[in-house]
Formats: sequence, C-alpha cells, structure tokens
Amino acid sequence: MPNESIVKQHEELKKLISLHNYNYHVLDKPQISDLDFDRLFSELLKIESENDGLDIFDSPTQKIGGEPLDKFAKVDHRMPMLSLANSYSIEEILEFDARVKKFSRTTDEIEYFCEPKFDGLAIEIIYENGRYLRALTRGDGVTGEDVTENIKTIRSIPLRLNSPNPPSLLEVRGEVLIFKSDFQKLNQVQQEEAQHTFANPRNAAAGTVRQLDSKITANRPLRFFAYGLGQYENIFFESQKAIGEKLEELGLPVNLTNADFLLREICRGPQAVIDFYKKIEGQRQDMPFDIDGIVVKVNNLRLQDELGLVARSPRWATAAKFKPQQAETMVEKIIVQIGRTGTLTPVAIMAPVKVGGVVITNATLHNQEEIDRKDVRIGDHVIIQRAGDVIPEIVSVVFEKRQKNSKPFLLPTNCPECGKPVVKIEDEVASRCVNSFCPAILKESLKHFVSRRAMNIDKVGDKIIDSFVDHGLIKSFSDFYRLQKDQIIALDRQGDKSAENILGSIEKSKQTTLARFIFSLGIRFVGEQTAKSLAEHFVTVDDFLTASEESLLTIPDIGPKVAKSIQNWLTQGRSIEEVKNLLSLGVMVEGPRKNVQGTLSGQSFLITGTLPVKRDEAKALIEGCGGKILSAVSAKLNFLVVGNDPGSKMEKAQSLGVNIVSWEELLNLAKKKRPE
Ligand code: IVH
Repeated sequence: MPNESIVKQHEELKKLISLHNYNYHVLDKPQISDLDFDRLFSELLKIESENDGLDIFDSPTQKIGGEPLDKFAKVDHRMPMLSLANSYSIEEILEFDARVKKFSRTTDEIEYFCEPKFDGLAIEIIYENGRYLRALTRGDGVTGEDVTENIKTIRSIPLRLNSPNPPSLLEVRGEVLIFKSDFQKLNQVQQEEAQHTFANPRNAAAGTVRQLDSKITANRPLRFFAYGLGQYENIFFESQKAIGEKLEELGLPVNLTNADFLLREICRGPQAVIDFYKKIEGQRQDMPFDIDGIVVKVNNLRLQDELGLVARSPRWATAAKFKPQQAETMVEKIIVQIGRTGTLTPVAIMAPVKVGGVVITNATLHNQEEIDRKDVRIGDHVIIQRAGDVIPEIVSVVFEKRQKNSKPFLLPTNCPECGKPVVKIEDEVASRCVNSFCPAILKESLKHFVSRRAMNIDKVGDKIIDSFVDHGLIKSFSDFYRLQKDQIIALDRQGDKSAENILGSIEKSKQTTLARFIFSLGIRFVGEQTAKSLAEHFVTVDDFLTASEESLLTIPDIGPKVAKSIQNWLTQGRSIEEVKNLLSLGVMVEGPRKNVQGTLSGQSFLITGTLPVKRDEAKALIEGCGGKILSAVSAKLNFLVVGNDPGSKMEKAQSLGVNIVSWEELLNLAKKKRPE
C-alpha cells in the first residue's frame, strides 16, 4: 500500500481534476487553461503509475478507454425501457391531455413537465452505492447491449455520484448525443484521416456508442443528458422535476446548464404545453444539438404510477414531434468539384428553397454510387432535408414528375478543370484526377495550406488564391513566401493596404510548429491528429523527411494505409524539394514541447542489448510517446527494454523487480492510444 500522504495527494488530485472536468464538460465554464489541465492530468498519471494499490476506480485516468472487445454482451434491463407514443399535431397534444384527465378522473389542469426530445440514442447507466457499475443501450427495450466501457469515457458522466450517502441503486436514463459543431469537426477529421463520415449527429453518436474499441469512443465528442430513471432504491422522488434536480445535484448532466435557451418548463394544462412546443420549435435551429420534438410528462410521479402503460408506452407521457424539415425543389444542374486530393465530388445545384428557415441551393451527391442509388438526374424534382439540421441532402426523387427525356447522370471521364483522364482507385468509391499540375487541385491544396489549423495565413482567402493561381503568380506553397507587393497590387481590386496585410500575415505564418507544418503539406490521410503524432515522434523536419515506413508504423494511430501514403509522399523528389524551399525562404518550424503527453507518459525506460531498430529511433519512440529515458537501473525505473545480448543491467533490473519488456512489447505499450 502506498503511504498516507500519497493516498491523500492522489485523492485530492482525482477530486480536483474531476471538478475541472465537470466545469468544462457539464457547466461549459472551464476554470483553468487546457495546458494547466494537461499538467494536472500528467501528474495524476505519474502518481498512479508509480504507486500500486491506489484507488483508481473513479480516477479521471479511467476515462481513456480500455482493451477492444470482440462483441457486446447482452444484458436484460431490470425495468424495461419503454418508448413514447408520438403526437404530430396540436390536436394530438389536446387528445393526450384529455386522456390523462379522463383517466385520473379530474377536471383540474394537469401539471406537465416538458423538455426537448433529444435526437440521439437512449442509454441506461447503473450506479450501485454511488459507483458507476454498468451502462446499457436500450436495445429492444427488454435486453440491451453492455456498453459500460464506452459510456465510461464520456467526460461529463461521473464515475462516482456526488453524495456522502448515495442511493444503493440508481438507474439513470438519458440520451447520448453529439453537438452539431462537434459533429462537423468530427466529420472533417474523419475525412482527413480517410475514415468514413457520418450522415448526421445521431448516426455518429450511435456508431460511436456501438464501437468495440473504447479508445476510439474516448476520442469522440459524446455528450449525455439524463432525463429519467429506471429502477432505484433508498431514494424518493415526488415529481419529474425533482428527479432532474436531484440528478443534477448528484453530478449528472441534465440538459445544458448555462444556455440562453428555454430547456424545460412546468406547464399547467394543454395550452401551456402548446406554447412551450412553439417556443422550442422556434429556437430549434439555434440550439447546439439536434432535437426532433418535445417530450411531455405528467409531473406528479404518483399520478404517473396510476396512469401506468398501454402496450409498450406510458400513458403519462407523449412525444410531440416537429414536422420534418423537408421541402421539394428541382435540380437545375449537377456540377463536379475537385478536392485537394483530386477527388471528384458531384454537387446538385437546385432552385433555392427554404428548409427550416434556411435557404438551400446546394447538396452534395458524394459520388457516382450515391447518384446511382438515389437515381438523381438533372431536371428531377427532389425532396431535400437538412440532415441532422445541418447539412442539406437529397432524400429522394419525385419520380412521377420526372421528364421523359431525362438521362442518368454520369461523372465525367476527364477532369473538368484540367481535362486529364480521371482514375477510379480500387477499393475506393471516389474517382480522382491524378494530374499533379491540375489547377483545381493546386487551388484546393493552397487553401488547405493557408487555413487556420495549418499555416494560418489569415489574410489570404479563397478568392485571392483563385486569382493568384489564375494569374500564374502562385504555383506552389513556397511561392507565397516569394510574393512581392507590386505583384499583388497589379491584381484586380488589391490596394496598397490590402497587399500589406496579405504580406504581413504571410510573414507571421513563418513561425510555426512541426505539427502544423506537416498538416499544411496536405499529405493524403494526414489529418491534424496524425500530424501531431508525427511531430511528437520525429521532433524535427529532417527526421520526418527521412522517416522509414517501419518507423512510421511504430507510431500510435498510424496504420499501414496512412504509413504507405506518407511514404509515397516522402519519396516524391518534388515534396522534399518544396519543404526545403519553404525552410530556405524563412519558415521556422518549432519541434514539439518536451514532456509530451502520450501513451508512455509518467513511465521511465532504459534500453539494453541490441534492438531490431537503431537506439536513437527507440529513444525517439519512447520520448515521442511521453516516456522518460533513465541512464541507470534503479528502483525508480519502470521498464527495462531488452534486446539481444543484454548486459548486467538485466540482472540488476530483475533483482529490483523492474518490468522487463522486449521491443515488441514496448511497441504494444506505445501503440495504445494516448489519453486526451
Ligand atoms: S422520457 C417511456 N425524455 O425518446 C420513455 N425520452 O420514444 C420515457 N428521448 O427512447 C422517455 N429525449 O431515447 C424522454 N427528454 C426526453 C427524451 C426522450 C429523447 C427519447 C428516448 C426514448 C425515446 C422514446
């Protein structure tokens, strides 16, 4: 057992970090910087790795995911998870109220607890004696899937309830969802890293909860809002409202806390419910997450009990759904856009139409397969909707209105920009232009290069880039750093001041980090996260440029497909030359901070014997993953990495009980995903 002061320090750190997690993820009011948070977190990791026997059950370090599963176990709910009857109109809300009144034999107005209907997926979290025990999906309502490890990674869900004498059993029910803004970022990252994108936030949330590798789940922006209970013991509630308040007090997230939105209301009688419904529908667009209606619940739990159920739905609640946000319009043309990696993306341009208060004209058709599946043609009348309230999509074609002479749409066989033949890559649905001099690809690559998360050249917008390329001023990344003021002024509409602004922001961008620099190069499949991992691993531009495929594969997060793509890029003479040009024109690339947070953070290592890779490479791997290299064997050493012909260090380490690992075992340790 660790000594008392360590235990105390550990408990305090756990509490402090949990509090900061709560401030950040539940209250949305962080009290410390991310950097300070990371420092505290590394301190916690360090204490836990150096001391056995600490109580890590409710430690924030447990929120980073565990070993992947083969499948989810099926578990019965103690109390079935019911579904709600749906109402689609004001009349149906009135009918619901009339039924409740009739059943409860009262003429008094009924008190309803109303809140939004979250568009995510239902989850039950079971706490025993205040401790997080298990989490289940709804499944068929009777049997759910055990997603304990995944739900545990959600930062806003407490592993211990905030109460000195918690109930012996509390089954919390609620909705897991992803915010609209997080969803867009997630899809962007998925795209950059060659993973599939999600159609809407609900699909993304459901896919993430049903992900067998909880380390992946841990890196996704899941949220949870509690809205009710399953079974509970040693705790008592009078009303639905009181349940919400109690759950909040116990540290669970119940809707947004500091929003400018109306989120819940006690409504006396049906008219108040209808007013609430209208207010929520009016703010729907602006809410940070998707909702598809409101839920109306009888507030008094005794009355709820009396009302009971009919079929699989409670008589005491109803979901008043909003009308789907769909509209009909006509496809005027289908244009084909060329992306940064040469991918051809067909986009339908439609007669402008309002959907949910926003005018829509464009919708992506993704690729040829998608066009064929929906059979969308130019001139077709189509039903469109905003998927997950955000991205417009074509749901279906109104075939009855199709013109007789319409023809299926086929993507061109030549790039619409440069005219070179396009290529269909095996295993990919997309067609691509592979002409490395295609002006469309150049423009998109330059737009990526200057973007905020890359080189951050903020005064250079899309229009200027088009103009630079069209006038032959810029043919490569490095040409930005060769621009002269008079060249910019010579372009249309660029005055003296704006030319100076442009040059100023280009100059400012010269100071950058290795992670941003690598990201900005636009290497296929290298998104921001992969670029960070590469920077942490290689530390300098030179080491990155001379990376071997094997060393790339030792990096956590980098699989064969990504390693191959990086390797291809590195072996193109032009890429290396361009990087050298950038450096010689004054771009200064700063290596990552030492003391990185990684899979080996808080652990110390020493190498002995001959490893299958160079010593320096092994050291770079350890340090790149946050580990420390020690110079001698001592009781402080966590791991001795042993190769062929180890020396006396091995015996000494054995006698001190130090962990002895092979190179392969070290790789496994390093491969585990890093905590956030
Ligand atoms: S209360 C008897 N409240 O709607 C079930 N449900 O069809 C009582 N949902 O599977 C559920 N937001 O996933 C309740 N504020 C809310 C909700 C909500 C979304 C979902 C839930 C359930 C479905 C019911």
